[in-house]
Amino acid sequence: MIEEEKLSTSKIIESQKKLMFPCMPRYRQPIVIVEGKGAIVKDLDGKEYVDLFAGYAAVNIGHCHPKVVEAITYWAQKLHHTSYDYHNIPSALLAEKLVKILPMSGEKKVFYCTSGAEAVEGSVKLMRKYMLKKVNKTGFEVLTLRYSFHGRTHLTTTLTGQSKYKKGMAAVVSIPGVKILPAPYCYRCPFKKEYPECDILCAKYIEDVIKYETSTDIGAFIAEPILGEGGIIAPPKEYFTEAVKIVRDYGGIFIADEVQTGFARTGKIFGIENYNVEPDIVAMAKGLTSGLPLGAIGAKTEIADAFEPGDHSSTWGPNVVSCAAASAVIDVILEERVHEKVEKIGRELINELQELQRKHKIIGEVRGRGLMIGIELVKDRNTKTPAVDEAVKVREYMREMGYLIGVGGAYGSTLRIEPPLMITKEQLEKALEALDTVISKIE
Ligand SMILES: Cc1ncc(COP(=O)(O)O)c(C=O)c1O
Repeated sequence: MIEEEKLSTSKIIESQKKLMFPCMPRYRQPIVIVEGKGAIVKDLDGKEYVDLFAGYAAVNIGHCHPKVVEAITYWAQKLHHTSYDYHNIPSALLAEKLVKILPMSGEKKVFYCTSGAEAVEGSVKLMRKYMLKKVNKTGFEVLTLRYSFHGRTHLTTTLTGQSKYKKGMAAVVSIPGVKILPAPYCYRCPFKKEYPECDILCAKYIEDVIKYETSTDIGAFIAEPILGEGGIIAPPKEYFTEAVKIVRDYGGIFIADEVQTGFARTGKIFGIENYNVEPDIVAMAKGLTSGLPLGAIGAKTEIADAFEPGDHSSTWGPNVVSCAAASAVIDVILEERVHEKVEKIGRELINELQELQRKHKIIGEVRGRGLMIGIELVKDRNTKTPAVDEAVKVREYMREMGYLIGVGGAYGSTLRIEPPLMITKEQLEKALEALDTVISKIE
């Protein structure tokens, strides 16, 4: 076993392999991170990295932001937890702040839980209670997108539109009443059309699915405004207005899964603000605290009030320290207009990456918004065969050069650039140079 005074990277990795469930990512990176500040993390051997993936796009305002440190240090010494049986100050203050920024008009309410999956799961449960109250029916169907990712619980894995998360688990990932729709993935259009001549068929087709493949009792359409794990797939600008209109025509509501796109990641406070449509329910987590476990659901009051006392809860939900962190994160975003900076820096970075695409044939597409950017690698631009091994190599070589990036996407060949949002222009320029060098080497 590892003794603290004799800690070493190899000993920790060895111990983890022996003691942890082997369900972690296939390519778990062989470094032990011991410190983080802003966009920089340091490993046990003292090597520094520029973090371009922010712990699965979660540490939005940077590692150990001083205002978050101050807030959590204050409460860590005073009180950690109360449960929902009592009230506490940070969770009360956070609710005031959250309802002000939620991307829908009118009266709103919030609920706290501990993760993104729990927020999504709770959102669907709330929808069912709302439908029961509104039209006295429970058996409503939920529409979700191919290539989506909504979490790892039974229901959220069912909602997820990627079989790689479901293999060998058919019985628990096929909860009835979930229908998966073709994705608005223009680079690999399910209808083999070109945007904009396609006239957003992928959205219009939803009506056909409802009419011919469901009971037509539609409860909700749940979607990520930009599909993160699926490969940073940003739907065309008219997609959500059209899709949500159809869903509402059939009596359904719209749940925005903002777990990854929320809290300034895409250049707006919430990702759906890029699309000129209001959700009815919003699921949140990740960037909400920038580093502590907390999830939340926001809903229009009319919907939230479908829950009755005792219908739903979560032990750690209103956790004092996590809520204090979230409050500090919202203050920082609003005071420093982080989303506006991200919109600008993201646009510039995407332009520069598209320059790189002109130079390197292996780059099939560069896409995204703000600092949620995907670079899809292909072996051949005509066949679009995913360059999976090459993507994994890019990540390895980048790490050796001191940059941490993500690799994923439905086809496993999308480089994910989702750094802490406080990353500097200079850090990004250097990362871009490193990427250019690494891709040249691989090509
Ligand atoms: C869009 C989206 N929804 C839900 C989840 C699940 O969140 P968690 O891992 O906190 O349960 C994720 C995680 O990556 C996500 O990206």
